[in-house]
Amino acid sequence: MGCFITLEGPDGSGKTTQIQALYHDLVVEGYPVLLVREPGGTDIGDQIRTILHDVKNVEMLANAEVLLYSASRAQLVGQVMRPALEAGKVVLCDRYAESTMAYQGYGHDLDQELLKAITAFATGGLRPDLIIYLDIDVEESLRRKEQAFRQGTCEWNRMDQKELAFHRRVRSGYLQLMAKEPERWFVLDAAQSIESLQTSIRKRMKRLLAEKHIRRTA
Ligand code: TMP
Repeated sequence: MGCFITLEGPDGSGKTTQIQALYHDLVVEGYPVLLVREPGGTDIGDQIRTILHDVKNVEMLANAEVLLYSASRAQLVGQVMRPALEAGKVVLCDRYAESTMAYQGYGHDLDQELLKAITAFATGGLRPDLIIYLDIDVEESLRRKEQAFRQGTCEWNRMDQKELAFHRRVRSGYLQLMAKEPERWFVLDAAQSIESLQTSIRKRMKRLLAEKHIRRTA
């Protein structure tokens, strides 16, 4: 079995930049590695992503939303992630089940136990070995996201249109989730420079790969 790492954080926390840098490092070092993102990561998942993120879909209900994110996840886990893990790969995933707990659970106030059951059904119980979390103040994260959108370096999706209070509940949700299971989370302050975040993530990854006996193949 390989090793499964997810990156989580509010929108604008810089997680996509970090996960791409980590992927690049691991490839250069010769590890067998796969990078995927949620929602999406498969042909079917990418079609679901289009529906989920279409800013025109303002009438989408919270329960429909959670089922769509979960359908995309089920396809990704079954079609791509499990086979990669069984082949001994390091799988890096940009967002995963903790996003559902934070955004749909805390953001939309959906029942947590129900969400856990839906997620277990979608994933067959696959949970990350480590969740890397980039923490950031809500106003700052939205400011960064707007700036990145203006510069054309990220999309503006349906979730970005949610009100400030929603984003505050999401961040507070993340903090509550990690307080319940601190050993599963590696938390970093996203206000640090990109390079300093990269260095900390690299160090933590080295330790995890050694613990999981993941070998370089190249
Ligand atoms: P991103 O690709 O820019 O991270 O955008 C994904 C958006 O989807 C982000 O706003 C978080 C949201 N999301 C959920 O609400 N629930 C989920 O389960 C996942 C995976 C993402």
